[in-house]
Amino acid sequence: MTYVQGVNDTELEKCIRKILEYSVKTNKAIFKNQLFGCTDPYGLAGAWISEAFNTGQYTFEVAPAFTLIELKLLNHILNLFGIPNGDGIFSPGGSMSLLYGIVAARYKTFPEVKSKGMRALPELILFTSEDSHYSLRKAAHWLGFGTESVRYIKTNDRGQMITSELAKSIQEEKDAGRHPLLVNGTAGTTVLGAIDELDEIADLCKRHGVWFHVDACWGGSLILSRKYKNRLKGVEKADSISWNPHKMAGAPMQCSAFLIRDKGLLHEANSAAAKYLFQQDKFYDISYDTGDKSVDAFKLWVMWKARGDRGLSQLADHIMGLAEFCLETVSSRSGFRLVTAPLQCPNVCFWYIPKFMRGKEENEAWWEMMHKITPKIKELLTLSSRLMVAYSPLPKHKNFFRIAFTFHPVMDERQVLDMLQAIEECGEQVKPATL
Ligand SMILES: Cc1ncc(COP(=O)(O)O)c(C=O)c1O
Repeated sequence: MTYVQGVNDTELEKCIRKILEYSVKTNKAIFKNQLFGCTDPYGLAGAWISEAFNTGQYTFEVAPAFTLIELKLLNHILNLFGIPNGDGIFSPGGSMSLLYGIVAARYKTFPEVKSKGMRALPELILFTSEDSHYSLRKAAHWLGFGTESVRYIKTNDRGQMITSELAKSIQEEKDAGRHPLLVNGTAGTTVLGAIDELDEIADLCKRHGVWFHVDACWGGSLILSRKYKNRLKGVEKADSISWNPHKMAGAPMQCSAFLIRDKGLLHEANSAAAKYLFQQDKFYDISYDTGDKSVDAFKLWVMWKARGDRGLSQLADHIMGLAEFCLETVSSRSGFRLVTAPLQCPNVCFWYIPKFMRGKEENEAWWEMMHKITPKIKELLTLSSRLMVAYSPLPKHKNFFRIAFTFHPVMDERQVLDMLQAIEECGEQVKPATL
């Protein structure tokens, strides 16, 4: 058969090469724009293999080896997070993992939601910190709660949810006759990398009978580090956890794990009992028909197998060390000013104050100017291809830079100094008249 072609292969290759040329090279050390960076090469090999196999993992018969690998890996991860008898699933991203958490929490208290929907339920309230990721607001809309059902709890100067404010808010909702359903604690906020007081929040949730979900999408990778995993103390008390190995740890996207303490609940809350797929009269143990699961586990398994627990721990320790070095350099170098310290996750947040701004009264107008200077420096850094770095405002702060360190590519202190040097040099090119 002769195939009808759109373009021939030479043309196609030319197009693809052009696209690559004009794409951002996220594998470089100077890409610091996101919470992900270069992929782990072992993970990439795993991703290519599973893509080439082009298989789904809903039934054991179609992907026996991949199914067993996912179960094995999930058990290992559950053990690391301190919920050895729990269950889990790989989902298409952290936002989706949070949806799983809310669906489980809602089903646990109100199983009738599956047949009757939200109309059968009292008014349900979700709690999260004002520095948390926007996926909770999105989930509130998608799942029919409505965004007005979310309570944003104040954070302290380090970006952690203030537990006493949370306690007050839960009580207020109860007094008003509404039902506090779920608290979303964050282990590693998107910008500051703050880790909420998980232990305290878990106890508070227990006292009030509220589901405790931990969004560990970013900071969850610290669980890999023998030295830093204590920062996540209390995560083992959570009812559910989301963790994105595709962020800090460098698994190829998407790779997001959702973990849950109550073993049967994930299946009960989500199964649609599709009889055409999950026949009960198969010739093997149908408990291995894992339903919604995916092959995303395989790429993570390949990198884990290659590096081992110790290798991943070393990578986590290395980036925390680099982040400490970056933070100390920023705090001592003239023109740089830290937003928060000490370090919680490997996020370093700071302003660069050009010489023409120094030594002046730091009033509202001064800060408004800084708000414009940070994006201008970013523009100069990007256009000169010296560094692609994130900036952000927060309710308490005008625009500032965030450098978030990821496992790959493995960097050294020299490269950290080069990044800061680039920021300083571009910062000094900013002219007040251009703002
Ligand atoms: C703290 C936190 N939680 C959740 C998410 C959402 O993850 P995803 O982009 O995989 O949906 C992000 C994304 O940056 C995040 O920073």
